[in-house]
Amino acid sequence: MSAAIYPGSFDPPTKGHVDVIERARRVFGRVIVAVGSNVRKDSARLSGERRAELMRAAVGDLEGIEVEVMSGLLVDFAREKDVRVVVKGLRDVRDFETEQEQALLNRTMYPELETVFLVSDVRHGFVSSSAVREIAFHAGEVRAMVPGVILEDVRRLYGRGDGQKDKI
Ligand code: PNS
Repeated sequence: MSAAIYPGSFDPPTKGHVDVIERARRVFGRVIVAVGSNVRKDSARLSGERRAELMRAAVGDLEGIEVEVMSGLLVDFAREKDVRVVVKGLRDVRDFETEQEQALLNRTMYPELETVFLVSDVRHGFVSSSAVREIAFHAGEVRAMVPGVILEDVRRLYGRGDGQKDKI
């Protein structure tokens, strides 16, 4: 069975992420979901371990899926796991621009690491973690964007009531 790493911030996990994980599992059999941090963006609202917990709940007992926190570089994580394929989902050309840059940067550090792009389901083309954070912050409806099993957690953790008042 081949394996692939699916890295991301997952702040929070969305239905779009779970869709890509399911697609990747059909192709590779084993998928390691690497919950990392993008230091180019504002720091994540939740710790890596908390985001990993949400992701574990979101994927449930899907066979072949492991969820782990990735604290350093993706290339180091891939070497440690002895996995040479990274999977990323593409919603549109804007995603491609950022993902191509990341793939090429990773290749300069680890030439044997291949990045494979999977096209997201069109139903999730408008879904992003940043949109979920914004809508949840204002107590809007995120049901269509977030896996049902973590919906209440997302509302509570990203809503204005949970220590986020200072953001306005
Ligand atoms: O959800 P995101 O923001 O697309 O995830 C980005 C992530 C976490 C996959 C990326 O920032 C990453 O790989 N971080 C680990 C550190 C690293 O390897 N950075 C160099 C790649 S450009």
